[in-house]
Amino acid sequence: MGALSCEHVLNIQDLSNADIMLVLDTARSFKEVNERTIKKLPTLRGRTVVNLFLEPSTRTRTSFEIAAKRLSADGINMSPSTSATVKGESLVDTAQTLDAMDCDLVIIRHRYAGSPYVLTQNMRAHIINGGDGKHQHPTQALLDLFTIREKFGRFEGLEVGIVGDIAHSRVCGSLAPALTALGARVTVVAPPTLLPACPEALGADVSFELDPVLEKLDVVYMLRIQQERIEQSPLPTLREYARLYGIGTDRLARLKEEAIIMHPGPVNRGVELSSEAVDTARNLLLYQVNAGVAVRMALMYLLLGGDKDGLAA
Ligand code: CP
Repeated sequence: MGALSCEHVLNIQDLSNADIMLVLDTARSFKEVNERTIKKLPTLRGRTVVNLFLEPSTRTRTSFEIAAKRLSADGINMSPSTSATVKGESLVDTAQTLDAMDCDLVIIRHRYAGSPYVLTQNMRAHIINGGDGKHQHPTQALLDLFTIREKFGRFEGLEVGIVGDIAHSRVCGSLAPALTALGARVTVVAPPTLLPACPEALGADVSFELDPVLEKLDVVYMLRIQQERIEQSPLPTLREYARLYGIGTDRLARLKEEAIIMHPGPVNRGVELSSEAVDTARNLLLYQVNAGVAVRMALMYLLLGGDKDGLAA
């Protein structure tokens, strides 16, 4: 087992292609561990992992918590309601306070882009970005890459459409550059009002319509409409959005035979995916969630230098 070339994972670009492959290969070993009856390894015994989630999360927070427990780390959970941020404590002061307690790894989710970087400047611990504003969500990209590689066995030549709220999507901000770096061809699909000012910076082709590109796609990655981050109304109605960009019965029937649907969750049923599309076997959302535990175990293990004996136990 090798080592990562970075100390922190703030952006997907912190990881080289070789780092990404190392994480995915390590995650495969942990996925096997997660399929056992006894899912616990002693690998990170005595290490302290803090989940500093200052914005809501179901999947990311829970899977990091499960990952820490399965590796025998001591895991601490902090949320807005249980941290002194509600009393006005700054992020710098929170970081310095946690640093004084000798934490080994902090996973942060925060509404402001760049918050994970602030921690790196004020703590000695390794930092993982669990989602910062509209910026990046690198561990989501890693679990998505794991899912795509398990399904197709490769990235080169795959056609991936990322559909929806590109402008507000930290998931797209990490996934699109990673896929292009690994040889996939990415098309972002959205109305102009849901695209960033320079979509080319994602390294992707751009389409304002879904129908002209749908039938070439191997992966149809549907993004959630993030009503909490949309300052002005960029859509006439959600019903109109679903008609133009959602996957329902008709578009399901037009997908390539081997095509998969992915979604980071949580889903707005009836908006980006109909209930039929959520429930189809093509939709790998729950496989992604399952892979998320293994991928986060791998990342913790590689950053904290877990011992090989622990992995084999
Ligand atoms: N995919 C994702 O980040 O989900 P949560 O917001 O539930 O963590």
